[in-house]
Amino acid sequence: MKLNKIEWSQELSIGNDNIDLDHRRLLLTFNKLVDLINTDKDREDFAGILNEMTDYAFSHFKKEEDYMQEFGFPDLAGHKKEHEAYIYKVSTYSLNMLGIHAPEPQEVLAFLEKWWQNHILQSDKIYEQYKNQVQSEARYIPF
Ligand SMILES: [Fe+2]
Repeated sequence: MKLNKIEWSQELSIGNDNIDLDHRRLLLTFNKLVDLINTDKDREDFAGILNEMTDYAFSHFKKEEDYMQEFGFPDLAGHKKEHEAYIYKVSTYSLNMLGIHAPEPQEVLAFLEKWWQNHILQSDKIYEQYKNQVQSEARYIPF
């Protein structure tokens, strides 16, 4: 099975440069894993780069959560749960990668691809839209 990289496009932008940059960096790391799996089958290399998909995501999620808190995003708890589920799933994959029950790299990549596309397009876009809506309504509050 030939795996495809995720090319960044405007469609993936949530309309916030700071967050978009983090997402682009995470997708670059994902693409490194795709390259690796298409050329080399070394599980240690794969496991090393896979760690970046949790370490960097961890600090990125914290940044997003602090940001959502600033404007009182109503579903912060639900969004946090998605982040927690991701960290749990991907760190379990990482942990098992060098063991006897190693997951198939293709399975890991399929999960990552689907998760990031869905999460960015659905969950992340929603909080930014909410923030923009709240800000534009605030401008019309009469004194
Ligand atoms: Fe998020």
